[in-house]
Amino acid sequence: MYFYQPSQGHGLPHDPLNAIVGPRPIGWIASVDAQGRPNLAPYSFFNCFNYRPPIIGFASSGWKDSVQNIVDTKEFVWNLTTRDLAVAMNESSASLPHGENEFTRAGLTPAPSLLVKAPRVAESPVNFECRLSQCIQLTGADGTAVDTWLVLGEVVGIHIAESLLENGIYQTARAQPVLRAGGPSAYYTIDESHRFDLIRPDARQS
Ligand SMILES: Cc1cc2nc3c(=O)[nH]c(=O)nc-3n(C[C@H](O)[C@H](O)[C@H](O)COP(=O)(O)O)c2cc1C
Repeated sequence: MYFYQPSQGHGLPHDPLNAIVGPRPIGWIASVDAQGRPNLAPYSFFNCFNYRPPIIGFASSGWKDSVQNIVDTKEFVWNLTTRDLAVAMNESSASLPHGENEFTRAGLTPAPSLLVKAPRVAESPVNFECRLSQCIQLTGADGTAVDTWLVLGEVVGIHIAESLLENGIYQTARAQPVLRAGGPSAYYTIDESHRFDLIRPDARQS
């Protein structure tokens, strides 16, 4: 087994961490600044952490515009990145001067949300309207503060394209979600052939 201690470097051509913890869903986060100007950026340090209430979160390496906006306005929108939106999602990661619009740069349409001021990506088939619940600065095991911020939000409104519902069941693979792997450029998507099912031990009939 190859072994390394991250504090002393990985000694490999690329850091394997995010290639191992992958593929990851993408937190495609729309927010507005205090003046109401829209912002959009992808965050692959992203996941869902709770059912009731639903809580999702992303981690920003450094205090980026999305974090500033969400702390200022207490709201954001998560958008599902689908295969046909992958290039636009990538474009929206460009570092633009604060207040310049990633929607315009990526050729995307901001659609009004119902409960929050941040817009939805109209082209995305699933959007979560969220209210900030916590913004937490990460620390190492010794308590040293890290310049990384975990933004957690309660999902207060969910939009789902009807085409992704079959008899009321959400079709995960049909959406062709984009998933981030490792290195500078690797992504995956999924289709129904990748599916398998497991019944949890506690849920099996005897
Ligand atoms: C697929 C993808 C995933 C990314 N994931 C993260 C992430 O998890 N954390 C982070 O800080 N930046 C991440 N970035 C970089 C940000 O999107 C980029 O710094 C962006 O300009 C931040 O925008 P903002 O300042 O408007 O929030 C990612 C970029 C891409 C393309």
